Amino acid sequence: MSDEKKVIFSGIQPSGELTIGNYFGALKNWVKLQDEYDCYYCVVDLHAITVRQEPKDLRRRTLELLATYIAAGIDPEKNTMFIQSHVSAHAEAQWILNCFTYVGELSRMTQFKDKSKKYEGNDVGVGAGLLNYPVLMAADILLYQADLVPVGKDQTQHLEITRNIAERFNTLYSPTFKIPEGYIPEKGAKIMSLQEPTKKMSKSSDNPNSFILIMDPPDVIRKKISRAITDSIGVVKYSDEQPGVKNLMNILSITTGMAVEEIEKKYDGQGYAQFKKDVAEALVNELEPIQTKVKELVNDKTYLEEILKKGEQKASYVANKTLSKMMKKVGFIPKFK
Ligand code: TRP
Repeated sequence: MSDEKKVIFSGIQPSGELTIGNYFGALKNWVKLQDEYDCYYCVVDLHAITVRQEPKDLRRRTLELLATYIAAGIDPEKNTMFIQSHVSAHAEAQWILNCFTYVGELSRMTQFKDKSKKYEGNDVGVGAGLLNYPVLMAADILLYQADLVPVGKDQTQHLEITRNIAERFNTLYSPTFKIPEGYIPEKGAKIMSLQEPTKKMSKSSDNPNSFILIMDPPDVIRKKISRAITDSIGVVKYSDEQPGVKNLMNILSITTGMAVEEIEKKYDGQGYAQFKKDVAEALVNELEPIQTKVKELVNDKTYLEEILKKGEQKASYVANKTLSKMMKKVGFIPKFK
């Protein structure tokens, strides 16, 4: 029975194209969780507008992101997939939680500090949404009474504030929210920049050769891998002294299932040329079927709409139960029927 399963909640913003970092770091792990857990996978469009989005692009990316979830192997029959703005409880719960969150703790968040530096002084400016972003994330998680939240390292602070807000509310009133834990996958595959392999791969880098998008055509993938920074040591070895090679080995290992020791052995005495070619082919093999599927799915609007309708209904039902409790506890009068 799905009721007995632990609940997982996670989301990705439809604010840009996804890289293989998102794929190996998030999506591929989500797929593994779908049998064991009751999973909610959300397209967090409310979060996306904390910085300016072109409406037409936001619409396209939102559906593309849902298609990518499915193409990556997240089964719409087993999981609840939905768009955050379809479930109004997120925005309502966020308002309530805002009143139990301190400006001080929000302005200390590393991501807020980084982003506000970036937008300060430009025509977008630092919107209040950027400051309140973690409260919306807390609402996402707490509404579903999530046990576990798979997130990257950059989001652990937001998870911590979620726990603090939940505990604060539970203590002030009575137990209302489950206190969620972070979920760190056993074999965390952190994909690094192909040009500066000591930094995380990021789509916001100015140099497109530093990242690979899930939707990059095969020839672009081959070119980017062939240009990936390695070193002059010339030995395929899994070592922190060779971060570029190490990163490529990680990619080869997760795409083929080969252990890093096997990879070292296989390319012993061969330099980097064949190794890089094989990394590129392994990536192409992994991504090409996903790309085909995404393209197919975005053209099947009826199918996507069906999934979204079902997802919204299930999510709304669960979220509204928690929201009603919150409203009652703070002293709001329930609607008269
Ligand atoms: N803030 C997350 C990110 O940028 C996305 C997100 C929004 C999220 N709500 C969430 C992740 C709830 C996990 C749970 O990566």
